[in-house]
Amino acid sequence: MKKPILVANWKNHPESLRAVTPILTGLSRKSAVYKKLSTFIAPPLVYIEAVSSKIKSFAGLAGQDIFFAMEGTYTGAVTPDILKSFGVKLTIIGHSERRALGETNEVAAAKVKTALRSGITPLLCIGEEARDAEGNYFEFLSEELKLSLEGIRRKDDAHKLIIAYEPIWAIGKKAKDAMPPADLAQMVIFIKKVLTEIFGRESAERIPILYGGSVESGNANELVATGVQGFLVGHASLDPKNFSEIAEALL
Ligand code: 13P
Repeated sequence: MKKPILVANWKNHPESLRAVTPILTGLSRKSAVYKKLSTFIAPPLVYIEAVSSKIKSFAGLAGQDIFFAMEGTYTGAVTPDILKSFGVKLTIIGHSERRALGETNEVAAAKVKTALRSGITPLLCIGEEARDAEGNYFEFLSEELKLSLEGIRRKDDAHKLIIAYEPIWAIGKKAKDAMPPADLAQMVIFIKKVLTEIFGRESAERIPILYGGSVESGNANELVATGVQGFLVGHASLDPKNFSEIAEALL
């Protein structure tokens, strides 16, 4: 069986390069735990070199985003080949915070294709903004997933994908406000069903589904029991103790 996946999304934290060092020191204390998982750290891009040299032995480097074009001249953009040259192995795509800035499903699909072509694993995020009694969010998620994977149909490509389910309403809260485990278990089944419609059962079964949204040490154990293959962690990933306890819950 594949190792569980744990991805730290540092977003735009910490506030300075100086503040990166204590986090890395804390993480390396638990390197033995992280090695048992597929652990990735997605720092702000400008910290990437400082982070990569310190995590090499126990975690991979991830991007928080990827540019949609392979080559060309694009002032301000970091193209995939540059990311790769720094050792980036995986990238978050279509995070809700990028979608809130205007990123569409179409752009997310282009980025998934670019990542696949570059040999960088795409971690595609989906998630509804709110829940409603009529269950309209099921339709929303199905469409978001299908459109963000538009044009990606080859089995070889499907087998490289990772999906992160991150309900927007559950992001950046405390553990008690994360998604209830019973609801998450239902969503994992639903996402698998949509992936089956896209890729067929055998390939869909091979695509790991992660959960993100207020995962902390206090709720990681109950969230693991829902069928997810790992977590995409925001604020708790900047706290080495909290993050290592989340990692232990996945073992
Ligand atoms: P929090 O863990 O801070 O809720 O963030 C989740 C997230 O957006 C990870 O990508």
